[in-house]
Amino acid sequence: MAKINCLNPIAKCGTDLFDANYQMTDNIAEADAVLVRSASMHDLEVPDSLLAVARAGAGVNNIPLDAYAEKGIVVFNTPGANANGVKELVIAGLLLGSRDIVAGANWVVEDKDDADIAKTAEKQKKLYAGNEIQGKKLGVIGLGAIGCRVANAAIHLGMEVWGYDPFVSVDAAWNLSKSVKHIKNVNDIYANCDYITIHVPLMDATKGMVNEEAISMMKDGVVVLNYSRDTLVDEPALLKAIDAGKVHRYVTDFANPTVVGHEGVICTPHLGASTAESEDNCAIMAVNEIRDFIENGNIINSVNYPKCDAGVPSSAGRITVCHKNIPNMLTQFTGLFAKSNVNVPDMVSKSRGDYAYTILDVDTPDAAEMAKELEAIDGVIRVRVVK
Ligand code: MLT
Repeated sequence: MAKINCLNPIAKCGTDLFDANYQMTDNIAEADAVLVRSASMHDLEVPDSLLAVARAGAGVNNIPLDAYAEKGIVVFNTPGANANGVKELVIAGLLLGSRDIVAGANWVVEDKDDADIAKTAEKQKKLYAGNEIQGKKLGVIGLGAIGCRVANAAIHLGMEVWGYDPFVSVDAAWNLSKSVKHIKNVNDIYANCDYITIHVPLMDATKGMVNEEAISMMKDGVVVLNYSRDTLVDEPALLKAIDAGKVHRYVTDFANPTVVGHEGVICTPHLGASTAESEDNCAIMAVNEIRDFIENGNIINSVNYPKCDAGVPSSAGRITVCHKNIPNMLTQFTGLFAKSNVNVPDMVSKSRGDYAYTILDVDTPDAAEMAKELEAIDGVIRVRVVK
């Protein structure tokens, strides 16, 4: 029986998908798999039994991906599952950035005791006038599941959309509206767009990408939206640009002491995927990924191991191997089976960066013996007998 620990509340429609072969546990020390949303796992002690972590969401900066890969812990995320929820909040962010909705609504609450508020409001409203987004240029940096949806929705709202993503996937490219202008140099977005929204993952290469230099290229009065991760933006530099009157507003979904309460900042508490629909979609996807991995050894949507899918095992046994992506591994694996005269009717092996994963379907029900020998090979990180 596989034990599952949830570090954050995960929608019941997802956890209900675990059948009688699974047991939920509050004790991570005995977990085979962990489901997580925003809890940080960086300083968390995890047991040797832990095989997999599934993040119900897209961003994985709360999980130590390399350290887990090194231990043979496969980390999954749920790309696209909350993309519509985030997209809808970005559209709200565009409107919050262009119209003074927040200050206007706050004023109404502050003036609640004014019996003549209807009349006062008509005088007061000129203080909260704004601009329309129709006809304005929106720069979308990153055209993954979320960026692509934001770009398409903004086209429908009458915006001129410029899209930048040097790593755009074939799927995203197919889904992107033909009206989105393809930008090859991100500086063109900085220099020309009235609204700029960032939809890239937080990695070493993207950390602080919206820096002082990028901000200095931006048009006066630009609105910057950040629904990805706060540290993608050099926030002190951005606040300086707000104070100098260059940036009109910074709309961010990430509350931190630097931005909270600063004039010109509209900040929400990481609400992007906080919708019933997104939470359900992410939970269902995360649980299905964990089940396919535990039951069949397949890896789909991992962020630290390659995609490797051999379907449902049909041979007598299945062994999976997490290993280093170094020469001679497969020859050693198959050599072991050849030595024992065990047929390997199917094998799938994939690599990603420093790591690789191999699924071996074998014509022996006694895979456990073979697994021990595989474990002894230099470069092998973890061996699991799935069947
Ligand atoms: C994500 O990474 O999927 C979003 O930031 C939403 C979330 O984490 O809840």
